[in-house]
Amino acid sequence: MKRVLSGMQSSGQLTIGNYIGALRNYVKLQHLHRCYFMVVDMHAITVPQDPAALKEQTESIAALYIAAGLDPNKASIFLQSHVHAHAELGWIMTTLTHMGELERMTQFKDKSEGKESVGAGLFTYPSLMAADILLYNADLIPVGDDQKQHLELTRDLANRFNNRFGDMFVMPQPYMPEIGARIMSLDDASKKMSKSSPNAGSYIAMLDDPSVIRKKLSRAVTDSGREVKYDPQNKPEVSNLISIYSHFAEMSVAEIEARYDGQGYGPFKKDLAEQIVAVLEPIQQRYQEIRRSGEIFDILKKGAEEAAEVANETLLEVKKRMGFVVI
Ligand code: TYM
Repeated sequence: MKRVLSGMQSSGQLTIGNYIGALRNYVKLQHLHRCYFMVVDMHAITVPQDPAALKEQTESIAALYIAAGLDPNKASIFLQSHVHAHAELGWIMTTLTHMGELERMTQFKDKSEGKESVGAGLFTYPSLMAADILLYNADLIPVGDDQKQHLELTRDLANRFNNRFGDMFVMPQPYMPEIGARIMSLDDASKKMSKSSPNAGSYIAMLDDPSVIRKKLSRAVTDSGREVKYDPQNKPEVSNLISIYSHFAEMSVAEIEARYDGQGYGPFKKDLAEQIVAVLEPIQQRYQEIRRSGEIFDILKKGAEEAAEVANETLLEVKKRMGFVVI
């Protein structure tokens, strides 16, 4: 049995990109391995957050985890800020990280581009992410394609620590879907679908009303052709929609292409909306029940206790090896 860890930032509403790239795999992996899934609220504050919105988003994502099928009796579900070892090992990892390594991170470059002032936390973000993973000595990290570079840095930091202070950390590997590790925006297939986008038409949120989902898909950008064909190079928009379809309908690309052969984009986009609604509607209903019941707080408390047990042990060992006075 392997150890699995992952998390999502509470910086907005979860999108179908988060669902396809990561959350679906969380649900799958909880049946196979020892899993830790958190909401990374401390990463969310690396860009300014309104306090009321942060609280709402954090609770909402935790409830969506459960609504989408995570079982608190199978996986530990918790908030990053509830397990103090994250902040502490995060600081330690920052001291092991080189400036040049952080400067190379494409996510930092994207998020800081054109901004007048950028918080130092946005820069050191990957060191905290490394701490998240190493605290649990996780082998498998279910993530989308955009996190690959952060995972490479995590492995470099794990190696650096092992070399300086003695073997302790395993090398974590990304676990990604074959298709859909990078779901693109509905309005621009050169950009990743993102929950922090200011244009709500560019993404489908997991909590979008069915009527909104239908409208967003009917407006999704496509090329001027009419062939439903998976060809990311020449038909990036349609290929992105096919990837989404494939996940929601659990059909292969070839089956989808055959189904819409000669029919044009209209019926394809309409059916895609219905496939998404069919999966999301029951999740949304469960989500409302979970929010109403307030059960999420007990789940998060139990999850944090389970997580802290492992995390504190790792942190103590790290501190001993580095020469901190431990009494
Ligand atoms: P975040 O919050 O940006 O995204 C959460 C997860 O969703 C995946 N994802 C996507 N997958 C496919 N297509 C997309 N358009 C798309 N957008 C997002 C992300 O790859 C991610 O898996 N740094 C992380 C959070 C984090 C973390 C960790 C992850 C902090 N500590 C430790 C794993 C392990 C992030 O910003 O994810």
